[in-house]
Amino acid sequence: MELFEWYMIRATGTVAYLLLYLSVIIGLYTQIQKKRKQKIVNTLIFHESLSDWALYLTLGHAGVLLIDQYMSFQWFEVLIPFQTNYEPIPMALGIIGLYFLMMTIITSKARKKIGYQKWRKLHALNPILYVFVTLHGLLMGTDFQGTVLAIVNIGPLIFFGLLLLKDRRKVPVVH
Ligand code: HEM
Repeated sequence: MELFEWYMIRATGTVAYLLLYLSVIIGLYTQIQKKRKQKIVNTLIFHESLSDWALYLTLGHAGVLLIDQYMSFQWFEVLIPFQTNYEPIPMALGIIGLYFLMMTIITSKARKKIGYQKWRKLHALNPILYVFVTLHGLLMGTDFQGTVLAIVNIGPLIFFGLLLLKDRRKVPVVH
């Protein structure tokens, strides 16, 4: 890869992942706020716009791959899973991740039309998107480190688990 393009692919991929990560964390936090009967409107707007920006950065990520002269991918190798001989499985995880992210964003914007219950079921599939892009970054990345990823991903799980447990204890038992 040409040096500038290579930096851009890494930077756009890393920032896209970071935005998606923050969006997931904030999305989980809104569930806690909801249980505590706090207002979540602004937090949800922030959650949505973080995902929008993750998509813009991912489109940039794919765009730089298309113009990169060193790897010289064809459009179908970057946009259709399993059409490339270069790391086919990690590439497919990224491509499916891109479409998944698009589906999530489009269905979220159209949630009133789709119906809240149906949309919630679709939204509940999002952990798959997150696992796909995490594996993609881990398998393809230059900067992505397994230990750092494990810490940043397991840490919040423990934190939210503890918060939920604390909230459960507060609920009075009704006989
Ligand atoms: C069309 C879909 C995609 C394709 C074809 C693609 C392709 C690539 C390639 C070739 C690399 C390797 C760059 C290097 O050599 O360091 C890479 C890295 C990476 N990609 Fe993607 N990707 C796609 C979608 C995504 C998505 C949806 C995300 C996250 C939201 C993402 C996040 C990352 C990350 C975090 C890295 C590692 C950066 C680093 O540590 O160097 N990618 N991707």
